[in-house]
Amino acid sequence: MITDQQNTRKRITTVFVAFLLTSFASLFLASCGKDAAPGDYMAIAKARGLNAKDVERAVKTFVPPGKFDDFVIVASGGHSGQIHLIGIPSMRLLKTIPVFTPDSWNGYGFGNKAVDDMLDEGSKGREKNLRWGDTHHPALSETNGDYDGRFLYINDRGNGRIGMVDLRDLKTKQILSIPNIQTSHGGCFVTPNTEYVHISSKVPKANAFSETPVSLTKQEHFDKYNDIYRGASTFLKIDQSNGHFLIDESFQIELPPYNQDLADAGKEVSMGYAFINCYNSERATGGNKDGRVSIETGASKNDFDYLHIINWQKAEQVVKAGKATKHNGINVISMQTAIDEGILYFAPEPKSPHGVDVSPDGNYIVVSGKLDPHSTIYGMDLIKKAIAEKNFEGKDPYGIPILRYKAVVAGQVELGAGPLHSQYDDKGYVYTSLFLENAVVKWTLGPPYFTGDKAWKVVDKIQTSYNIGHLTLPCGDTRHPLGKYCIAMNKWSIDRFPHIGTLLPQNFQLIDVTGAKMELLADMPIGFGEPHYAQTVPMKLFEKSLQVYPLGTDPMTMKISPDAILKPEDCRIVRNGNTVDAYVSVIRSTFTPDIIECKKGDKVRIHLTNIEQTPDATHGFAIPEYNVVLSLDAGEAAVAEFTASKQGSFSMYCTEFCSALHLEMQGWIIVN
Ligand code: CUA
Repeated sequence: MITDQQNTRKRITTVFVAFLLTSFASLFLASCGKDAAPGDYMAIAKARGLNAKDVERAVKTFVPPGKFDDFVIVASGGHSGQIHLIGIPSMRLLKTIPVFTPDSWNGYGFGNKAVDDMLDEGSKGREKNLRWGDTHHPALSETNGDYDGRFLYINDRGNGRIGMVDLRDLKTKQILSIPNIQTSHGGCFVTPNTEYVHISSKVPKANAFSETPVSLTKQEHFDKYNDIYRGASTFLKIDQSNGHFLIDESFQIELPPYNQDLADAGKEVSMGYAFINCYNSERATGGNKDGRVSIETGASKNDFDYLHIINWQKAEQVVKAGKATKHNGINVISMQTAIDEGILYFAPEPKSPHGVDVSPDGNYIVVSGKLDPHSTIYGMDLIKKAIAEKNFEGKDPYGIPILRYKAVVAGQVELGAGPLHSQYDDKGYVYTSLFLENAVVKWTLGPPYFTGDKAWKVVDKIQTSYNIGHLTLPCGDTRHPLGKYCIAMNKWSIDRFPHIGTLLPQNFQLIDVTGAKMELLADMPIGFGEPHYAQTVPMKLFEKSLQVYPLGTDPMTMKISPDAILKPEDCRIVRNGNTVDAYVSVIRSTFTPDIIECKKGDKVRIHLTNIEQTPDATHGFAIPEYNVVLSLDAGEAAVAEFTASKQGSFSMYCTEFCSALHLEMQGWIIVN
């Protein structure tokens, strides 16, 4: 919609447009010596209804054909269960990585044995064989507090699980169903050297550490809530060689039945610590048709909730000293042990806060108010001092010491309505999303970043459209943020895109943060799930990723598969009782062998190897009616496994348009 005001501005800016376009044109002419006349660019801009600002935006974000973006957003995909990679500044979708949810293009979850086994394993202990997830918080592996491009973790908010993506090939390699927790929201982060990946519960679980499922009446749920529900903070030990979770060396810390929410790792001066926000320290149980208040009301009664301060390095020692107990396969430090050993402290935080984000130097812990217009900033130096001096203002109902509020707060800044999440740039500025105000606010940290009356000050604000959740800046949660851009991740788009039905896309907005005023550059509709957290990285973080697999690589192990086709004689079919093993090579534009004969009821395993070594020479393998589709990248070996339950002849085919004879790349599964 173009308003009168915009029309007026358009007229006023015409002169500037002319100037700007003439400048561009001269530049082009100077560099090329020929090309279009200056008037052409003006005519194009005019014909497209672009004003000077639009042209500036276009030039700042345009990535020419064949050129690459500078940065990549690694975005959660929400309940699409995936991860999305988006180029900056072009805001183009580069890739989707399936994690918790089957994806037919990737041949992920449709008869690829290794993937199916991983998805099944990732449902262990859950009632159903889960085939969806609600990805929320990506956590890239780090070395010394900076992204190192090795691994990527992401949690499933819906089912309390975590997935691991290997950045050598950007594929999911492990899904772990976390014992003793049911859900997990924003508690996913890595420690500064990826010693551990953290995942905490969001809603406490009844009899969390029991081996048998709880049996509760509704009345018992109300009466015993405080005693039997528990949360957990989980530190998953990481195998540095392949990024996998080492459950035997992992541990949990028992937490009170509050709703543990967003979390972050300490670094530098706060190295060894972890911070978790909570809400519902009131322990509202629900029951709004049983004469009780709704959780929404009950959880917002108290003026303060508790910032959880966890010394994970101390916890690690306590586990090594044998002071933890195994529950459902993981070491658990009881709440009492955590108190006795000085592992767990609380600090009051204004009611129902949201993000908790540690500053690049590790000293400031910025807690956003959500229901409070302030950010409250805690100092690690102050926290350490208060712990050393036992400067407590009491204990919570479970005996956890509460540090004196006044003693640990370094500053408080009034930001606006509904502050949620914060990220940092390279100059000591903080960028915080304001959900209720639909804005990003830019403000200053305290010393050593800014001192005197320059510290703790709001310096700029920009409107976003609409209902911003998270925001992300390049390396904005690391030891060395890069600034330049801020991406607002908006939940609603309302009128930003054309009418396309009732379910509207989310809206990512690219903001230029290089100048004194933040400036909106672009909108990007996200029509594939509801992203939450994202991390933005330089494009070069992925430059070492594989282009082709060494011939015969099983991506799940990253080793040469013993069943791979390495030479022509390896192509064969072997029957063993009721099992048929077919070893099939895949290359433009033939499967060899191209007929696999079996009997009804046989277990069929088709060991496929894409024997190509050309980048992008991906082939697919699909069997109609059998719900089988695999995707094999160049060099990849994978196994399609199914039971030949229906007789007939089935025309298997390659799903990728790989060559001029792609349609001819077919064969038969004959079940008699
Ligand atoms: Cu291979 Cu089409």
